[in-house]
Amino acid sequence: MRPPIRRIALSTGGGDAPGLNAVISSVVWAAANRGWDCLGIRDGFNGILTPERYPQGGVERLTRERVRGISHLGGTILGTTNKGNPLRFPTHQPDGSVVELDRAQEILDYCRREAIDALVMAGGDGTLAIADELQRRGLRVVGVPKTIDNDLDRTHTTFGFDTAVSFATECLDRLHSTAESHQRVMVVEVMGRYAGWIALHAGISGGAHAILIPEIPYDIERVAAAIRERDAHGRLYSLVVVAEGAQARTGQRTVLAPAAAGHVERLGGIGEQVALALAQRTGKDVRAVVLGHLLRGGSPTTFDRLAAKRFGTAAVRALEQGLSGVMVALSHPNVVYVPLAEVAGRMKVVPLDSDTLQTGRDLGICYGD
Ligand code: F6P
Repeated sequence: MRPPIRRIALSTGGGDAPGLNAVISSVVWAAANRGWDCLGIRDGFNGILTPERYPQGGVERLTRERVRGISHLGGTILGTTNKGNPLRFPTHQPDGSVVELDRAQEILDYCRREAIDALVMAGGDGTLAIADELQRRGLRVVGVPKTIDNDLDRTHTTFGFDTAVSFATECLDRLHSTAESHQRVMVVEVMGRYAGWIALHAGISGGAHAILIPEIPYDIERVAAAIRERDAHGRLYSLVVVAEGAQARTGQRTVLAPAAAGHVERLGGIGEQVALALAQRTGKDVRAVVLGHLLRGGSPTTFDRLAAKRFGTAAVRALEQGLSGVMVALSHPNVVYVPLAEVAGRMKVVPLDSDTLQTGRDLGICYGD
């Protein structure tokens, strides 16, 4: 029988996503309503592992007052990092080199010292893998699935995705008119890492004529042919959405920076490549637009806000019920709990038989295949 909870700590890790503040606020309220104390760790676990960086404290008390009025704000009041994996923490050596050290024990010690009974960790695949390892080492942990990429397994949706897709769709709406006025091809690169969810959902919703996603390696000749075909029918402009992780059948992913100590590979640049190749093949005026980090900002949509609040409060209920080592997840219409072990290290990509993909085909959208 686990002892009752009196105090929990919250951390947000990985790239930020709209809805994180709604998670923080709802965890704090649900915890406070049970008489629990709530702490917030700065920048993933940096607040514990590098306290010298935080003159005002690397861990702060989160009261109802502190989180009042933040649910609709983008970002995270706790800060976040995708360079702070405590299992492989980049640590500077006296000779100037950087080595990765396993510093998880310091987190366990901190929790014991500060009487923290459990952690709520909101993050993507990297953060949830860390959550899984921390619970294996003895901490009570509940994970909350966050990423604009929607690439986490065992949950239908992550919060942040809907906001990113809505904004990308709005951008496509705006690009339609300028593309049409100038009879141009606009190539729009969107984030999503190795999954095409954002590109596919925004592309179909925003009326794109071609959508290139990592799940379907493309043949640029097919895309050029689709644009020529539109031209032949008097449709003299086209919109092409390209996921940052898309790759040609004959090519490779475009990588801006390779994985380095404590940092994952950075993708980007495919939009320009596709634009150049289409200009050469169609003779048309082509422009590339990279939406990039704009997709991560802004106020969460209603869907994301509600999902974040449902996830945050469900995480607290999970701890109250004595659960640990689970992630809250959306299994329509309910929030459910799934083992972290079944999420960590797995990626959810667009299934090739998905009806959303088929929707695009039936609408005549070119996937480059
Ligand atoms: O995982 C979220 C995400 O925005 C990806 O879509 C993108 O590839 C990556 O993070 C960018 O990370 P960074 O903020 O380090 O550039």
